[in-house]
Amino acid sequence: MSETSFDLIVIGAGPGGYVAAIRAAQLGMKVACVEKRDALGGTCLNVGCIPSKALLHNSHLYAEAVHEFAGRGIEVGGVKLNLKKLMSNKENIVGDLTQGIEFLFKKNKVDYLQGTGMIEAPGKVTVAQGKRKMLCETKNIIIATGSHSAPLPGVEVDEKQVVTSTGALSLSKVPKHLVVIGGGVIGLELGSVWARFGAKVTVVEFLDRILPTNDGEVSKNFQRILKKQGFEFRLSTKVTGAKKSRGVVTLTVEPAEGGEAETIKADVVLLSIGRVPYTEGLGLDAVGVETDGRGVIQVNAQFQTNVPGIYAIGDCIPGPMLAHKAEDEGVVVAEILAGQSGHIDYDAIPGIVYTWPEVASVGRSEEELKAAGQAYKVGKFPFMANSRARCNGDTDGFVKILADAETDAVLGCHIIGADAGNLIQEIVTVIEFGGSAEDVARICHGHPTMTEAVKEAALAVDGRSIHI
Ligand code: FAD
Ligand code: NAI
Repeated sequence: MSETSFDLIVIGAGPGGYVAAIRAAQLGMKVACVEKRDALGGTCLNVGCIPSKALLHNSHLYAEAVHEFAGRGIEVGGVKLNLKKLMSNKENIVGDLTQGIEFLFKKNKVDYLQGTGMIEAPGKVTVAQGKRKMLCETKNIIIATGSHSAPLPGVEVDEKQVVTSTGALSLSKVPKHLVVIGGGVIGLELGSVWARFGAKVTVVEFLDRILPTNDGEVSKNFQRILKKQGFEFRLSTKVTGAKKSRGVVTLTVEPAEGGEAETIKADVVLLSIGRVPYTEGLGLDAVGVETDGRGVIQVNAQFQTNVPGIYAIGDCIPGPMLAHKAEDEGVVVAEILAGQSGHIDYDAIPGIVYTWPEVASVGRSEEELKAAGQAYKVGKFPFMANSRARCNGDTDGFVKILADAETDAVLGCHIIGADAGNLIQEIVTVIEFGGSAEDVARICHGHPTMTEAVKEAALAVDGRSIHI
């Protein structure tokens, strides 16, 4: 066994781990990043954010060409889907970006240790690759091992007929009927991809609404929009089992609160009921790192676990499972290790669903404000009344701003609309700077842009929208 020593070893090279490693190296630490996958970038670059957005973008273009162009006066004959080429385009994007991180590691002098990391003791990590094992000494360790798809008893994943998001990103043909278990972000994004390519998509959701953590009005309206696009929904319904035969999966479902069972047949089933931390084989129990009942690593405000010298970030600790949250934590923990003071405002982390229209939110929902007994004002503006949305034919959705009834401080913003993911960033900045709805209303917004709907919603908080 060979031995090497570092200031910091990061285990996992997803958005949390690779960003932490680069920032720590920038701050002068001797850093190694251990990754067991044969490429850098973690879930996000390899089987998450990036491939899903490549498929979402191209399936949107395809659906526009098939369903929308003619109505706008653009006649293109014989639009055809070449799924093989579309998938290889997606693979190329992933390959380029993951190699880009290798380049960034070299540029910042981060040692890339390919293999499976295991914590032997505080300050000691072994990296195993096949039979080869290397023992590394380090002052500090950051665990950034991410998450994996949550299992559902009775529904066995084979990544062919019953798939997680990973299988759904690489189907070799368009399913006739895709049943999605779980009406959350993955189910609606990947359901959209395959619906646009012609699949019938049925979403089976345990709760009484889709996107259950979003603002209730958004969930309800968004479901209506997806229904118009052909989605079918079975809400308040649970899946109790899946039986596979050649080419058909038969799901048994029943009302969430119990009742008569029935069956739904699908040729592909996507299991997307959430993700759980991935810490298998890390040796956490042996070194005594505390986790909760679901395997979530417990950390303090400095991302320290209960074991000195061992830190954790990203999907394997509490908080939203988002790439940008993991990245920001990576920067903060590196800066803390360098003796600086890092900071994250968890009230200002945007969440975006990259469907069409997109759904974006930041801060509190109406339900959360009501539960907290907080007095608030609401300002809303529909894209139907926004001139740019009318030009683009993207009139579905609205902007909703929630502001403190007394101080007018922006507490939350929820947008359904084309490009909502970019629009929300203005309000993220406003929340971060403690701004008010009046501040947004008095900022000059370019015309004609979708951003004017954000300004109009801010005006609506005070009952003075101009264009409605
Ligand atoms: P990960 O990205 O999961 O990386 C952890 C890495 O650690 C993995 O590469 C793993 O191989 C490695 N690892 C684990 N154990 C070991 C070990 N013992 N030794 C060595 N290496 C190990 N988020 C967004 O913000 N926007 C999106 O659009 C978005 N889209 C998504 C789409 C899909 C289909 C999925 C599944 C997720 C998506 N996410 C998105 C979520 C995002 O991917 C995660 O929040 C993010 O990747 C978490 O980063 P992380 O660094 O904590 O972990
Ligand atoms: P999710 O938490 O978004 O949604 C899971 C859904 O499944 C919920 O609506 C839940 O009520 C439902 N559910 C739970 N158990 C069920 C059951 N037994 N039967 C039927 N429904 C059930 O989880 P999802 O979609 O799997 O995504 C996992 C994580 O990945 C998310 O937390 C998200 O943060 C991240 N992600 C982010 C994306 C983005 O930022 N655009 C895209 C994709 C994933």
